[in-house]
Amino acid sequence: MATTDSVQIHGLIGESTKIKEVCSILKKIAPYDASVLIEGESGTGKELVARAIHFGSPRKDKEFVIVNCSAFSDSLLESELFGHRRGSFTGAIAEKKGLFEIADQGTFIFDEVGDMSAALQVKLLRVLQEGVFLKVGGTTPISVDLRIIAATNQDLKVLVLKGKFREDLFYRLNVIHLTLPPLRDRLEDMPLLVIHIIKRLAERNKQPLKKVSKDALRLMQEYRWPGNVRELENELERAFILSEGNVIEPNHFSPHLRETNQRTRLNKKFKAPANTSSLKDHKRIVVAEFEKDLIHRVLEQTEGNRTKAAKELCISRQELIRKLKLYQMT
Ligand SMILES: Nc1ncnc2c1ncn2[C@@H]1O[C@H](COP(=O)(O)OP(=O)(O)OP(=O)(O)O)[C@@H](O)[C@H]1O
Ligand SMILES: [Mg+2]
Repeated sequence: MATTDSVQIHGLIGESTKIKEVCSILKKIAPYDASVLIEGESGTGKELVARAIHFGSPRKDKEFVIVNCSAFSDSLLESELFGHRRGSFTGAIAEKKGLFEIADQGTFIFDEVGDMSAALQVKLLRVLQEGVFLKVGGTTPISVDLRIIAATNQDLKVLVLKGKFREDLFYRLNVIHLTLPPLRDRLEDMPLLVIHIIKRLAERNKQPLKKVSKDALRLMQEYRWPGNVRELENELERAFILSEGNVIEPNHFSPHLRETNQRTRLNKKFKAPANTSSLKDHKRIVVAEFEKDLIHRVLEQTEGNRTKAAKELCISRQELIRKLKLYQMT
């Protein structure tokens, strides 16, 4: 399946220059203990890359612990990370080992690190600086040896500029920086990914392999994939189940995927009249193009939900519908 030019490290598949670059950095950094910050849109493979780093390192036989910072309340996250002494708070009926201790000598992943509260950022910084921490309610310092990987789909530097993320912690985490490219910027990887995902679906569902028609492949290459590889996996799973024969066709994909592509084609058809010389007309056209592009992108993000899109664009739903009609985007 993999061509001589393609790469496949710990399930990370691709043949684009961008993914090869990621893999080459990954191989170089894996054996070291330096902290890594992985940025990338949702579904671009941040967790997959974090796993590849861990399993390519001398820590591979120790624990790989991943904690989603946005999934816990502040106090719960603190007791999960540091553990607690018996009776340190209501409900702490027994002594609990924290995840830091469990991950000792292994790799620790802070997923969605941009969502970590200011209070916890201070505590984490202390652990990174001193390599020791106290259990909640505890007095004896516990020392741990961890390799830290942080992942986020936000721009952490922007959060630093906005004062929402500590600069000192940012520099501690950002020793090595990896940005994962969105799928739409590495469409060369699409055929390999499609083959890989279909093979897995066929195995999992105990069914023969299916082909993808040329039209279906074109549809996939024209779509912007805001949810990246995860969205591709979901769409292919849907198509695999809905296609009765052994060929996946465009009509087996979600309607929103087909509609978004149709809108993009319509947008491309909208051209500025060549014979207009008035500045006013030019301004109107430029504004219209800008608005259409923005509406298009926001609707993609909200998966076609107009109420959410209008909210995001700070206009009323009626105003959004009026603009969609005006620009023939419905
Ligand atoms: N290059 C790739 N090759 C093969 N599979 C991939 C690749 N990138 C991502 N995937 C697959 O896509 C799915 C999403 O990947 P992953 O969970 O690592 O993304 P993520 O960036 O952590 O997403 P989120 O921001 O939503 O947490 C997984 O099933 C993963 O196996
Ligand atoms: Mg993830």
